[in-house]
Amino acid sequence: MEIESKSTQGEFVAINYISCQEHYLARFEELFKSRAGAIDRLKGFLRMEVLKPQSNDKQSEPEPYLVVSHWENQDCFQNWVKSPEFHEGHRRAFQDMSQAKEQGLEAPMHSKFVVYDVLSR
Ligand code: HEM
Repeated sequence: MEIESKSTQGEFVAINYISCQEHYLARFEELFKSRAGAIDRLKGFLRMEVLKPQSNDKQSEPEPYLVVSHWENQDCFQNWVKSPEFHEGHRRAFQDMSQAKEQGLEAPMHSKFVVYDVLSR
């Protein structure tokens, strides 16, 4: 994955917004409940949260989940994306994606990530 290289100081947050097909919601939640945890070994990784929209239990059009990762700085995040730990942490997710592709099915999830500086607390 190519990310523009930029060195910044201070805490940095990368949020991945993941939209799942309805049939994949339970599997998606299961993956995160038993996540690999490979990211925990990375230098500069502070913490992560996975935010589930309350409405996903109530309505049929699911809102995206937010995978929020906090880092000491942007370089630490970029090192993770290039590391074997990134692939280890995504093995099952990427397998599910390739399997759907091989079967000619629509991807079970789509993701979009946005990067942030911490402006205020
Ligand atoms: C095609 C793109 C991506 C998809 C479909 C995706 C989806 C997923 C899924 C389903 C998992 C759980 C995997 C498991 O434990 O088996 C996961 C792990 C994770 N994802 Fe992604 N992800 C993508 C890219 C990214 C990006 C760019 C970020 C950061 C902005 C991110 C942040 C995370 C984090 C922090 C974890 C936990 C890793 C660990 O436990 O080591 N993901 N992702």
